[in-house]
Parts: sequence; C-alpha cells; structure tokens
Amino acid sequence: MFPDGFVWGVSTSAYQIEGATREGGRGVSVWDTFCATPDKIRNGDNADIACDHYNRFPEDIALMSELGVHAYRFSVAWPRIQPNGQGPANPEGLDFYDRLVDALCEAGISPVTTLYHWDTPQALEDAGGWLVKDTAERFAEYAAIVGERLADRVNMWIPLNEPMVETLFGYALGEYAPGKALLFDAMPAAHYQNLAHGFAVSALRSVGAKAVGTANNHSPVWPATRSEQDLQAAAALSAVINWMYSDPMVKGSYPDEVIPYLPAGFADDLAKIAAPLDFYGVNYYEPQGVAAPGEGNPMPFELRPVDGYPLTTNDSPVVPDGLREFLTTLKARYGEQLPPVYITESGCSFDGIQDQQRIDYHTEHLAALAKAMSEGVDVRGYFVWSLLDNFEWSKGYQPRFGLVHIDYETLARTPKDSFHWYRKLIGGVA
Ligand code: NOJ
Repeated sequence: MFPDGFVWGVSTSAYQIEGATREGGRGVSVWDTFCATPDKIRNGDNADIACDHYNRFPEDIALMSELGVHAYRFSVAWPRIQPNGQGPANPEGLDFYDRLVDALCEAGISPVTTLYHWDTPQALEDAGGWLVKDTAERFAEYAAIVGERLADRVNMWIPLNEPMVETLFGYALGEYAPGKALLFDAMPAAHYQNLAHGFAVSALRSVGAKAVGTANNHSPVWPATRSEQDLQAAAALSAVINWMYSDPMVKGSYPDEVIPYLPAGFADDLAKIAAPLDFYGVNYYEPQGVAAPGEGNPMPFELRPVDGYPLTTNDSPVVPDGLREFLTTLKARYGEQLPPVYITESGCSFDGIQDQQRIDYHTEHLAALAKAMSEGVDVRGYFVWSLLDNFEWSKGYQPRFGLVHIDYETLARTPKDSFHWYRKLIGGVA
C-alpha cells in the first residue's frame, strides 16, 4: 500500500516526556509556571518527572530499535539551551541533545528535530511572549545555536510545532500556557510564530540543515448546514485554524478573513515567512464542526461538535476519512507549490495494554492516507503520536497516546499490542 522508502516514525515532545525539569541547568518554561498554578491541570498533575526520558533515553531508543522505526521526531526544550531565552547556550543542555542524536544515529534511526513544542522560556513570556516581535528574533538566535550543533546529523527540521494550538489555546482561550484569554487579540501570536518559523528556516539553512519543513495542526472544517451563513462561518474558522499558518508559509500571503487582526507591518514579514520548504508536516486528529454565530455572539463562528463518530478517551471523534479530506483540500489549495507531505502526528488516546482500538485507529487512518495518495497527494511518511504515554498538557496524564504504556509509579515501559502491530507493519509482515 505504501511505496519503498516511505518513512515510518514516532513523535514525542520534550515537555511531555523528559521530566528532569530542574536538571542540567534548564530554565523555567511557561508550562512549569502554568502547572504550578492551581486548577490549570487536571488532577493537579505536572511534568516534573513525566516519563523521565531525560535520564532514560537509552531505554527509549532501545524500544524504538525493537519497533523498527526509520525516524524519530523529538523536540528540543528551549529552556535547556537558553535558560532565559537569550544569550549563550547552556552546554549541558546542548550536550543532552547531542548524545540523544548520536544514540539515534548509532541505532540507525533518523533524527527529526522540532525546535519548539510550546515550552517558551518564562523570561521571554514575561517580556511579552509570542505577542511581541522580539520573541521571534530570539527564536532565530536559538535556532542557529541548535542548528550549528546538530545540523550534521539531523535529517529533518521542524521549527515550530502547531503554532495554531499555541495561539488558540495559549493566548486566545487560556486553556494552555501561558494562559491568556485574549480571543481575537491573540492573533499577533500567530503572526510572530510564523515569523519565528521564517527566521528559523534561514538560520537553519545557513548552518547547512539537510531539510527544513513545518508541522501544522490541521482539521477539515464541517459547516452545520449548506446555508450561506454556515458556509461563511466555516470559511472564517478554516482561515483561523488552517490557512493562517499554511498560506503565509506556502504562498506568502494571509487569508483575507484574518488580515484585520494582524499586527501593523505584517506584510513586510511575508517574504521571510514564505522561505521555500523541503516538506510540509500535517498533524491530523479530527474535523471541526462549525455554524454561524447565534444572536448576541460577537464571534464570526460558533464551534459545534462532530457527532456520530466513536470517541477516544480524550473526547476526539475518530474520523479517518478526515485525513484524506484535508490532504486533498491542501493539495487543491496549493497545487505544485505544496512540498512533499509528511504526517508528522497521527494518534489517539485509549487505555490499556491490549489496545485493539489504537490498532484499528491507525489501520483506518493509513487506509485514508493511502487513498489521499492515490488521489494525487505526495505523502512521504507517517509519524505515530506517540512513542510513549505522556503528559497531555492541561489534561495531565489521563489520556494515554503511547504505543508504549508508562506506569507513572515505577516508570516501567510496557509495549502495547499496538507497538507489536506497528513493528510488523514496518517490517512488512502485518
Ligand atoms: C498535538 C500536539 O502536538 C501534541 O503535543 C499532543 O499531545 C497531541 N496533539 C495530542 O493531543
């Protein structure tokens, strides 16, 4: 079903698995602060220990070797490299990722590195965070530091993970760190993350990065009805959650719907943001329902649940064909401008080590992916979210996304049925 050379991988992120938040000279991140704020995280959980991957990474690489993945997507924690978000690198932080990358290479697993998966150094947030341009400039510096150290061995780079989720949940709704509820005033955070992406692409290229792309969260948007008002609401929502990130990166412009909310002078940054990419990463989880706003609602849309599908333990509807639908929409939107696509995340939360539901989930999503490919989308790889059960942000440890179960008392790792299924699939036996 998939061509030779198709990349099978797994994804994680630093804050969700590393733990060791006070080790190795690491600075404080916005997520440390958010977790320490009462009532922000389900069950009062925090990521101080998480999977203790910082100390146990050799065991996790051994698991990946057993799994047979070709590639491993992980993120670098900015506050390990620059504890206050600027200035010289913390050698212990760089050494950690250097050892990780060496160990991956030794195991024959291709390192895929995300520079930023939401753990902004707190000092930068205190100075305005993603609402100010300075953070994008600081990010360029950080990208150069990490790039210089790892570009000889890392095969694919992703500057920022899901800037949409950071903007929406971190700055617009306040459900994620840094916990700001600014609604449409959060939009500068999208633009400055896009700009940070552009700066990092240049910084990485100038230190010889082999391939640079992105990883954006995407959802097909489903209007409640075909009425003119609902269709308009769907277009507005899709502009905000999809095209506001992909349009500037792929074609150097913003959708009309978001332009009124962008910071002054945004147009001067577009050429930088649109630096050509070697690949385009899609993180897909679910479609989003939407309707026209009701009386008295000042927003241009009203979110609606997608009904009629089974739910994961994280309350996500399972809609495999949404992946095909989104990919073909993406291809139709950008045509030849769209770089080769990787699914940089696909996964689900279900409990248990006998996790047939996860096997079914991936089987169905891969069938949808194959269909998208047969309909003309050039897809080169699939990364399962996630290798390990981990810290699922404001939902704490309750949702379990791993192919490997973590016992949070003992930190024992136990491969689930889905791990064995994926191993066979990669080996061509499933
Ligand atoms: C996407 C995010 O990148 C990741 O951090 C998160 O755990 C998964 N979605 C699952 O919600």
